[in-house]
Amino acid sequence: MTARVKSEESMAEKCIRKGYSPDPYTAMKVMHDSIGIRIVCSFIDDIYTNIEKIHSFPDCRIFEEKDYIRHAKPNGYRSYHMILEHTSHFSDIDGNSPGKLFIEIQLRTIAMDSWASLEHKLKYKKNISNQEMIVAELKRCADELASCDLSMTTIRELIERS
Ligand code: GTP
Ligand code: MG
Repeated sequence: MTARVKSEESMAEKCIRKGYSPDPYTAMKVMHDSIGIRIVCSFIDDIYTNIEKIHSFPDCRIFEEKDYIRHAKPNGYRSYHMILEHTSHFSDIDGNSPGKLFIEIQLRTIAMDSWASLEHKLKYKKNISNQEMIVAELKRCADELASCDLSMTTIRELIERS
C-alpha cells in the first residue's frame, strides 16, 4: 500500500484543466483525490476482500465507486476506484470539526499496476510515431495480463484445494 498527498502544482494543473479556479476549496471539496491511497494485491479476489473491509469502516462513507476491473477502460486500464468521505479529527476547509476529507483509493493487482505504470510513462512521451499501433499493442498487453491474473487465481484455488 502506498499513499500520497497530491502536490500543489499537480492539483492546480488539474483544477485549471477541468475548468475550475485553482483554489484550496476546489482542491479539497470539488476534486476528490488530494489524498490518494493505492493498494496493490497479489490476486483479484484479494481486491474484493479489501473492498468489503473498506465498506465496513465506520468513519468512511462511500462517495463513489468505479469497477474498471469488471468494466475495463477502452485502452485496457484496469483497477477498482473508490472515493471515500472520511470523517476526520482534523478540521476541514469549511472549518467543520470533525472534518470531512475525500480520499481516493485505487485497488489493483501487481499485473494491473505494472501495466498502468508503463502506460502512464508512455502517455507523456511526445511525438510518438505509430501511435495507433502502440495503443493497440498496449491494449493487447492489458488483456493478456488480465488473462494471467485469472489463471493465477485458478492456480491458487487448485493449490488450496489440493
Ligand atoms: P480524474 O479524477 O480527473 O483523474 O478523472 P476521473 O474521475 O474520470 O478519473 P478516474 O477515476 O477514471 O481515474 C482517476 C485516476 O486513475 C487517474 O488519476 C490515474 O491515477 C488512474 N487512471 C485512470 N485511467 C487511467 C489510464 O488509462 N491509465 C493510467 N495509467 N492510469 C489511469
Ligand atoms: Mg476521479
